[in-house]
Amino acid sequence: MTDRWYQKAVIYCLDIDTFADSDGDGCGDIRGLIGRLDYLARLGVTCLWLNPIHPSPDQDDGYDVSDFYNVDPRFGNLGDFAELLHQAGNLGIKVIIDLVVNHTSDKHPWFQSARKSPDSPYRNWYVWSDTEPADRKQGMVFPGEQNETWTYDRTAKSWYYHRFYKFQPDLNINNPEVREEIKKICAFWLQLGVAGFRMDAVPFIIEETQAGNPNSPKDMDFITELRQFVQWRKGDAVLLAEANVEPDQLKEYFGDSGGSANRIHMLFDFMLNTKLMLALARQNPEPVIEALREAPKLPAGGQWATFLRNHDEVDLSRLTAEQREQVFAEFGPDEDMQLYGRGIRRRLAPMLGNDRRRVELAYALQFSLRGTPVVRYGEEIGMGEDLSLPGRNSIRTPMQWSALPNAGFTTSNEPVRPVIDGGDFGYQTVNVSLQRHDPASLLAWFERMIRTLREAPEVGSGTCKHVDLPDAGSILVHRADDVTGTMVFVHNLGPSDGVLDLSSLYPEAEFPTDVLADQEYPDLGKFEAVPVAGHGYRWIRLRRYA
Ligand code: NOJ
Repeated sequence: MTDRWYQKAVIYCLDIDTFADSDGDGCGDIRGLIGRLDYLARLGVTCLWLNPIHPSPDQDDGYDVSDFYNVDPRFGNLGDFAELLHQAGNLGIKVIIDLVVNHTSDKHPWFQSARKSPDSPYRNWYVWSDTEPADRKQGMVFPGEQNETWTYDRTAKSWYYHRFYKFQPDLNINNPEVREEIKKICAFWLQLGVAGFRMDAVPFIIEETQAGNPNSPKDMDFITELRQFVQWRKGDAVLLAEANVEPDQLKEYFGDSGGSANRIHMLFDFMLNTKLMLALARQNPEPVIEALREAPKLPAGGQWATFLRNHDEVDLSRLTAEQREQVFAEFGPDEDMQLYGRGIRRRLAPMLGNDRRRVELAYALQFSLRGTPVVRYGEEIGMGEDLSLPGRNSIRTPMQWSALPNAGFTTSNEPVRPVIDGGDFGYQTVNVSLQRHDPASLLAWFERMIRTLREAPEVGSGTCKHVDLPDAGSILVHRADDVTGTMVFVHNLGPSDGVLDLSSLYPEAEFPTDVLADQEYPDLGKFEAVPVAGHGYRWIRLRRYA
């Protein structure tokens, strides 16, 4: 059996500022999070991914860092952070943090020094051009919110490169000092006890930017170098990367051409995410089957991280225009629900019409597909979004703990962001307190589902294969196999009940049972007629060796 912890993890992603406020100043903090660790342990979370924790002017939800060696004073101090690591560890929960080193905030002392003089020791830490680069208006990540990727700085009397917003100047990866500093940052946090990093924007970190060339080369070797360094410092530390690139480029992020997994341990599966959205919109599994078929085979130890919602928009840019329109029509028909012309700024429950059966189906499917599941805070209780907030903040509202004022998130009357109040998704209706007392709640279901997953290690560390059946229609059947046993999963993405002939699997079965299902189903018999309700699902244990 594999001892790679990340293959069996359940990762929960949260923003400290909107999770729990312990001191009543309106902003979530580390102490508040410590107070909620028991909740996360009970849910079954084994790893926390904290969105940026560093001091920041907070113009991009903390992804604009002004000091890599501290925590934002609004969240507490390093002592609180060390305590968080200790208390989480007591509960068997690991902590990974966002490593945002493609860029810094323009308020970072490095950039402030760099712009002041060509002789600054930090000048060459950033990417400059003395003349206006021809690709100045290309490569923007946030069209509409960002007009260019090169901005003229009057103090520096030069153009600086920024792949993202103009307040996020890119660091110069060609500079060995920058590489060393990135390692030093990793070393610092590993020494404090984090279990690894969610690496922001990896394809841009390794970009060896050449002014005027919108397709500058990438230095993949830096990833190898960083992996080696990190692993030397902490053997089981993990790198989980954001690299939303073309499918044919994915493999090289996991390892070099020699075939070993010597780069990133885990990549978010953006392609699967997009295809899952398309499949849910069409109520047909075909796009998921396609995604499974087309995903590159990973070197041993390489792992996908699966997700339905994250802290950004649902990025549909890899769909065809027609497919994208289909998803928009189903899940984000109003212009206000869309972002950057490519994405949707909503949470899952409202996208699925707050239909409990569809929400369960979607998460049962995500958690049963190969890889390590990542879930965003609040999804486990079916939180909604606030479209009156700008951009991606719509889905970054405070966690809804109870029906107390401001959702029990804070005692202040001025929460860092407004709490969703009233209506189907208001904190009065959707909150942890109500759901934890209700065995039929979505939260109780999530706890059960995650507990069941703990008994199915095949999902995280085994193979995942689509079981091709004639006339399966809206029903997806897939299986997970490893040395411990075999699970079979049946998910009906459509609204109508169906019956499948799964008798081809019967010869392999030893005392097969549903270990999780949307309802009680009749005995499986010889698998000749296996019913599954519209939007229903069945997780079937076929056999167990260990
Ligand atoms: C990717 C992050 O996911 C996003 O939230 C952020 O705005 C950009 N990187 C810039 O750091």
